[in-house]
Amino acid sequence: MDPLTPETWDRLLRRLPAHERVPLFGPLLACSTRADGTFILGRIAQSLDGFIAMPNGESHWISGEADIVHTHRLRALFDAIVVGAGTVLADDPQLTTRLVPGPSPVRVVIDPTRRLEPRHRVFAEGPETLLICAADIPGQRHVGRAEVVPLPSGPDGIDVFTIVAELARRGLRRIFVEGGGVTVSRFLAAGALDRLHVTVAPLVMGHGIPAFAMPPVRKLADGRRFSWTAHPMGSDILLDIALVRFA
Ligand SMILES: NC(=O)c1ccc[n+]([C@@H]2O[C@H](COP(=O)([O-])OP(=O)(O)OC[C@H]3O[C@@H](n4cnc5c(N)ncnc54)[C@H](OP(=O)(O)O)[C@@H]3O)[C@@H](O)[C@H]2O)c1
Repeated sequence: MDPLTPETWDRLLRRLPAHERVPLFGPLLACSTRADGTFILGRIAQSLDGFIAMPNGESHWISGEADIVHTHRLRALFDAIVVGAGTVLADDPQLTTRLVPGPSPVRVVIDPTRRLEPRHRVFAEGPETLLICAADIPGQRHVGRAEVVPLPSGPDGIDVFTIVAELARRGLRRIFVEGGGVTVSRFLAAGALDRLHVTVAPLVMGHGIPAFAMPPVRKLADGRRFSWTAHPMGSDILLDIALVRFA
């Protein structure tokens, strides 16, 4: 893992005009004030009607080119990129920074039951990968080139703060939770995100995999309301949401 240096920031961001660079990336420069030093960003690109993929998992592409480059730039600014098993199954992603001049983070896949196979690209090629699974699932210590990291699991899956603590223990403190909707929602519902970048594309799909899968509130007043700033991102709009983290 390459350290996040001022040179990396400069190399990644120098071509952006200051009016884009400062408000959007400034908050990401902030050092964590938490004892464990972690900083966690969630990320979703959704259609106008709130979907991140077609019902069959097709998601390339919902947002435009500028937003895809933005995602690669974010990857380069973090130590670890976290995705759920559903994303690896549907997309077979590489999760690298190939569109920008920056380091690739460690890839972290949450696959509690180890349903994914060694053929997936995150396990077969590219930068380091960790596969997080439930501790009671038997299996080898590696899947392809990826290290298997067993963690305690309960009725609600693996506690996201346990995942964060394990990554921090390995020196991975800047954590980018890139999808899909279930994984980002678990971090959001637990109060484990510092910020959330949601891109809304001017696209209506009518059906698909929802961006968020949050526990329902009983009445409107119980819903969590955030403040956000909106940033043009090519033909899309990026909403930068500051969150209050619970732990
Ligand atoms: N537009 C976007 O921004 C974007 C980004 C990424 C992906 N996608 C698309 O989104 C779709 C997948 O999204 P998704 O919401 O269905 O799935 P997902 O978030 O990729 O994966 C969800 C699965 O990951 C595992 N998981 C995640 N967190 C866990 C935890 N804390 N404890 C235990 N297990 C955990 C569970 O696996 P098990 O099911 O095995 O229990 C869970 O069902 C794909 O079609 C992909 O193309 C879109």
